[in-house]
Amino acid sequence: MDKRIYLKDLKDYVGQTVDLFGWVDVRRDHGKLIFLDLRDVSALVQMVALPNHEEAHQVANTVRPEWVLKVTGLVNKRPDKMIKADTLNGDLEIEVLKIEVINEAKTPPFSINEDTKLVDENLRLKYRYLDLRSARMKNNLILRDQVITFFRHYMHEHGFVEIETPLLMKGTPEGSREYLVPSRIEKGKFYALPQSPQQFKQLCMVAGLDRYFQIARCLRDEDSRGDRQPEFTQLDYEMSFVNQEDVLAYTEAMFINLIATLFPDKKISQKPFPRLSYQESITKYGSDKPDLRQDKNDPNELAFAWIVDFPMFEKTEEGGLTSAHHPFCSIKEEDVEKFMAGEDLLSIRANSYDLVLNGYELSSGSIRIHQSEIQKRVFELLGVSETEQETRFGHMLEAFQYGAPPHGGFAPGIDRLLMILANEPNIREVIAFPKTGDAKDLLMGSPSPTDDKQLRELGLKLDLK
Ligand code: AMO
Repeated sequence: MDKRIYLKDLKDYVGQTVDLFGWVDVRRDHGKLIFLDLRDVSALVQMVALPNHEEAHQVANTVRPEWVLKVTGLVNKRPDKMIKADTLNGDLEIEVLKIEVINEAKTPPFSINEDTKLVDENLRLKYRYLDLRSARMKNNLILRDQVITFFRHYMHEHGFVEIETPLLMKGTPEGSREYLVPSRIEKGKFYALPQSPQQFKQLCMVAGLDRYFQIARCLRDEDSRGDRQPEFTQLDYEMSFVNQEDVLAYTEAMFINLIATLFPDKKISQKPFPRLSYQESITKYGSDKPDLRQDKNDPNELAFAWIVDFPMFEKTEEGGLTSAHHPFCSIKEEDVEKFMAGEDLLSIRANSYDLVLNGYELSSGSIRIHQSEIQKRVFELLGVSETEQETRFGHMLEAFQYGAPPHGGFAPGIDRLLMILANEPNIREVIAFPKTGDAKDLLMGSPSPTDDKQLRELGLKLDLK
């Protein structure tokens, strides 16, 4: 195939005859003149079919929005008075010489050449591949790619190694329900899908890899909300021989750099990012994710804030004790005595921190425990029996006995970040194929029943009563 010409590059071909590929965005019939806007991933261009190119004119008469075409045409400059300034290709027009219909299309269930925001969302999700053709949605995905690419480069520049951790694993205690995957080979046993790579990233530190990162897919069986999906992505990272200041400083510089590089129009309200203790934040703002923007109507204001010194433990609804973040956070030095004595547990603070942005929790992290005895003490205080410690976390307790370095890390949610940067109202707008509020994939139709043969192979019987 000849070198593919993208519509964004047409300015380089003025006066030439070119072959173009794309979708019909709109068709305007002016009798003798038929105007077609052709769309590809990069841009739009207006085309005109004139009656003197008879065959092309006839085809132009039949085509409809979303048909796929190969168009051979002459790239012309528009007359001065027809120029649409500030629009890519606003000064060009293609004189159609030949049209080949590559594929026809049914009339789409909603218009793609307009913002699809007002279209019923379930319809958009069922026809997501059409929704993603619209300019806003496509641009959101491109922006997502740019942000992820920025992070990858930044991490590599700072000595981090990207390491993939398993999706089939044993449970992680991140506080949500897990998705389970039945084992066929060992009937009656299950894998859990990771709520985050927390344990594996710590094990990478025990492995001496020093600086790990991953664009990590996390899975949590929890109720969806505007800022929550059952599947989401974290920029997950972990560093050895660091303290809290190191992680905060690295992260802050990275976000400032990201905004300066990719979002020069946005302004960060306060640099260095303000820092509040959890207690201060609750007392002052009644929340551990305060929205510190000066002007909440300014789409370009970014108010980052650090919340530090989170409590290690909190009460469960049933009156028991649970870890406020996860049980691997280390205890603040000032509170270690109380911790060892098992006194006044709710006042014990962890070396754990959140990054908040415009009223959303963007990220959580902590300096971890790296000593087996201390880790056991946390489990003990959480009421996890010796046997359960062994079956659930024996591998961590054992790993810490083989020379675990001090380590800590962080995990910004990429979907939440993109939602805020793209000024979208929820994270579904920045995810290619998200699920509905009740965790359904309307495009493929999952979750879906399975057949008896598969259940038998897995040693499962359904009890749907
Ligand atoms: P945590 O559970 O706080 O920490 O998650 C970190 C960040 O991930 C994002 N996030 C979500 N995004 C979309 N949908 C969800 N359901 C969802 N849940 C969380 C948020 C959140 O701040 N392993 C620890 C991190 C660490 O200690 O290093 C963890 O996962 O932006």
